[in-house]
This record gives sequence, structure tokens and C-alpha cells, in this order.
Amino acid sequence: MAVTTTQRPLVRAAGLVKEFRRVKRITGRLGALRTFVGRDYDVIRAVDDVSFDIAGGELVGYLGPNGAGKSTTIKMLTGILTPTAGTVSIAGHDPSRERKANALNIGVVFGQRSQLWWDLPLRESFRAVRDLYGVPQREGDRRQGELVELLDMDEFLDAPVRQLSLGQRMRGDLAAAMLHQPRLLYLDEPTVGLDVVAKQRIREFVAHANAERGTTVVLTTHDLEDVEQLCRRIVLIDHGRVLYDGALTELMARYAPYRDLVVTLAEPADVDVRGAEQVARDGLVVTLRFRSDQVRAPEIIAAVTSVHAVVDLSVVEPRLEAVIGRIYTQRGLPENPA
Ligand SMILES: Nc1ncnc2c1ncn2[C@@H]1O[C@H](COP(=O)(O)OP(=O)(O)OP(=O)(O)O)[C@@H](O)[C@H]1O
Ligand SMILES: [Mg+2]
Repeated sequence: MAVTTTQRPLVRAAGLVKEFRRVKRITGRLGALRTFVGRDYDVIRAVDDVSFDIAGGELVGYLGPNGAGKSTTIKMLTGILTPTAGTVSIAGHDPSRERKANALNIGVVFGQRSQLWWDLPLRESFRAVRDLYGVPQREGDRRQGELVELLDMDEFLDAPVRQLSLGQRMRGDLAAAMLHQPRLLYLDEPTVGLDVVAKQRIREFVAHANAERGTTVVLTTHDLEDVEQLCRRIVLIDHGRVLYDGALTELMARYAPYRDLVVTLAEPADVDVRGAEQVARDGLVVTLRFRSDQVRAPEIIAAVTSVHAVVDLSVVEPRLEAVIGRIYTQRGLPENPA
């Protein structure tokens, strides 16, 4: 007999709003003697009617400029903050009301702030987390062993957290967040301040957790390489509102449907061919931009080489950075594609 079930998303945010009241500073006549006056507040709407669903197994990039409301959203999803309006449901639980039940399902890493015990050796922090979640001894040893190997933490397991480098500390935080094997992992800037190798290690770990364990990941980052490598779907927010929610490839196809052909000429010249526009010239190197949805690279290449002696050439894909940068500066999605 066929059983029909309504597949509930793992994460459901519906009409989420978070307002903060901030005491107004009175300057005016008081000049340098700034003071506070009670009950005089500014209301800041950090998150303004945000809705999205995330299915189990997804790896979603939650992106936006500084102050967009990303961390505030994550804090509502984890239950640290209670929404001013709207609802959050994580595997059927309201995180701010059912904090304990919710805690079993989630792991959280805030790159800017460690969750580890500062004065304890990393090993002891892991022990404390395991006890907190009631992970059985042998199973805990097994999981910890696996995490220590995956994140290459053997060398600094016995050092107090305050002595760890940022990269080591971040690995420690990630491992601590995974020890109870949460279904859902929130990562708020897990690569901030890390060198290229350390960033890559974190990315590989996150990709592994998602692919091998099926861990659902919500990732906030300003490093677009994190996004390009990890996220199929992105949710872009600004001023607390969702600007875009969809596939990364779709965003690129819609807002950057072009390629650049970079040619090095034998003789300096401007290049004028049909279907492409010269957008830069630096010595012998000329950059031609063409609509990749209208014309193919070989046609442009043929047109150029039939007129000019070409020493070298390459076709360059648009960078996510350029598209996202444009969205941030325009404070919205561009009306027209590039
Ligand atoms: N506890 C608070 N009290 C008052 N205002 C706050 C508080 N937390 C955040 N805000 C404000 O809410 C807005 C959104 O902040 P949030 O930290 O969510 O941004 P963000 O997208 O995470 O930015 P960033 O990329 O810089 O981390 C900002 O204007 C911030 O100043
Ligand atoms: Mg933030």
C-alpha cells in the first residue's frame, strides 16, 4: 500500500523579523559630553520578513554584505535569539522554545567567536561536549578519532584553546560542533581570517560532511571561493530582505551571461569584431567580451585570428565576485544583465 507523507523541510523560516532597539545617542547641545536618555530608542529591523525552506542534505550559502542580517538570522535559526515576528521550525521544533530538543539536531560554529573552553586543552573541550550530549564512551572515541584525523588535529589536542592559532581553533570548533553528529550544521564565517591552505581544509571537511554524512549545511561567508566550491544554492540578503534564492548557476546565467576572450596580439592594435566588444587593452593584451548565450567562443576566435596575428589567447569565465559585487553596490539585483 502506498503511503503518502508530506515531506517537511528540515529548516523552515516563515516571515522572520528581528528588531533591535538601540538607545539613541543625544549629541546636540551636549557636545562632547554625550549621554544616554532613557526610553529614547531607534528601532533597527535587522531581519525583515525572511522566508525560506531548506531540505535535508542541502548545502546553502547564506550571503549578504556586512550588516545585512545574516548572523541575526542564524541566531534565530539556532534559538539564540527569539524572532520579533515570524516562525522558525527545525525538524519540527521551535528552536527558541525547545532549545534542548533542537540542540540535538544542530551544530553551530561562529568563526568570530569560539564556543570552546578557553583555558581547557582542546581534548577536554571535546570531553565536555561529549558529556553534554551524552555520547557513549566508545562511540565518542570513534567519532573524535575520525574528526581528529579528518581535521589533522593530533598535534595540538593537548594545548589549551587560548594557545591555538586561529586555523587550529577553527578546526577545533568544527570538530566540537560535529561530535554529537547533528543533522544540521550552521557555519557563520568559518573561514574568516584563515590562510589559503586552512580555508581549503575547512571546505573539504564541510564538503565531506555534506556528501558522506548527509549533513545539511547553512553557510555564511564573505569568501566567494567558499561559495563557488561548496554551494549549489544561495540565499542572498540585504537590509534584512531576501534578494535572491536559487541556484548559483542560475544567478550567473542570469546576471553574467558573458565570457571574456583575452588575446595577446603580435602587434598592438584595437580589435573590432562582430559579436564582441573590446573592454580592455593593455599593451599587446586585448580583452573582448561576448554574450555566451548568443555566440560561441570559436566564432569570436576565428574572427580575431582572421584579422590579427595572435600569440596567445584564453577564454575567461565571469567571476561570482563581479556579480555579487554589483548586487551589493546597487543594493539590489541588476535590472539588466551585464
Ligand atoms: N544585539 C544587537 N543589538 C542591536 N543591533 C544589532 C544587534 N545585533 C545586530 N544588530 C544590527 O543588526 C544588523 C544586522 O546585523 P548582523 O550581525 O545580522 O549582520 P551580518 O549580515 O551578520 O553582517 P556581517 O557580514 O558584518 O557579519 C546590523 O545593523 C547590526 O548593527
Ligand atoms: Mg555576521
